[in-house]
Amino acid sequence: MLSNIERNKIYLSISLCDIFYELYHRANGLTPWEAGAVDIQPPLKMAVESGEVPFPKEGKALVPGCGRGFDTIYLASALGWKTVLGYDISTTAIAAANDFLKSKNVPPSVAASVNFDAIDFFKLELPEEEKFDLIYDYTFYVAIPPSMRPAWGAQIQSLIKSGGYLITLMFPHVPEPYKLGPPFWSSFENYVEVLGGVNGWEIVYNKIPPPEIQSEVHKGKDRIVVWRRV
Ligand SMILES: C[S@@+](CC[C@H](N)C(=O)[O-])C[C@H]1O[C@@H](n2cnc3c(N)ncnc32)[C@H](O)[C@@H]1O
Repeated sequence: MLSNIERNKIYLSISLCDIFYELYHRANGLTPWEAGAVDIQPPLKMAVESGEVPFPKEGKALVPGCGRGFDTIYLASALGWKTVLGYDISTTAIAAANDFLKSKNVPPSVAASVNFDAIDFFKLELPEEEKFDLIYDYTFYVAIPPSMRPAWGAQIQSLIKSGGYLITLMFPHVPEPYKLGPPFWSSFENYVEVLGGVNGWEIVYNKIPPPEIQSEVHKGKDRIVVWRRV
């Protein structure tokens, strides 16, 4: 259960995200954490298309803190799954995601499998049969205050079914924690800690992306890890 102080910290962080969305959408249509115009994160593409992770042929995926949803739509298209959900607490982000989903850039067959909704990740409660086969996190983890990370880890563990996957695209992945944010710092060890240690997980993919696929902002600061819930 979250304390009032923790909940207030989340709401402050969410308000900042909302303000970011408003400002950046009005200025140039993009936020600083988006890879480039109408693009997906290259390390996600690298991991999914490597063939090194045996994703099932059908399943249900969630992208919490999905923002405008480029990666959510990519996952629906690349995995070919019928249910890919993007949740964000910001109604501005969800409106932008739905606009993009309706645009001619997205084939109707892919759009049909994607749903965006304004939902607080920390309030999600699902029965066993509705849990996810895949959760993908890119910059949601670093958008919430670090004190909230144990709650993030507990919620991830409660929402992924046994044998399901978690993709963490760690950015900014840095050697030393720093105080300012969002975005706050991230490290592989910190993910292990908040996910309850390595015992409940098998690490099936763990790569530092090569610089040639990274934008200038990301160079030296990305790491992508795919975890399988055992
Ligand atoms: C840095 S943005 C990342 C956006 C997205 N992953 C992308 O690649 O563009 C973090 C997002 O997390 C959302 N967020 C923050 N707290 C949330 C919560 N409790 N539940 C769902 N989304 C949340 C924010 O509104 C924001 O859109």
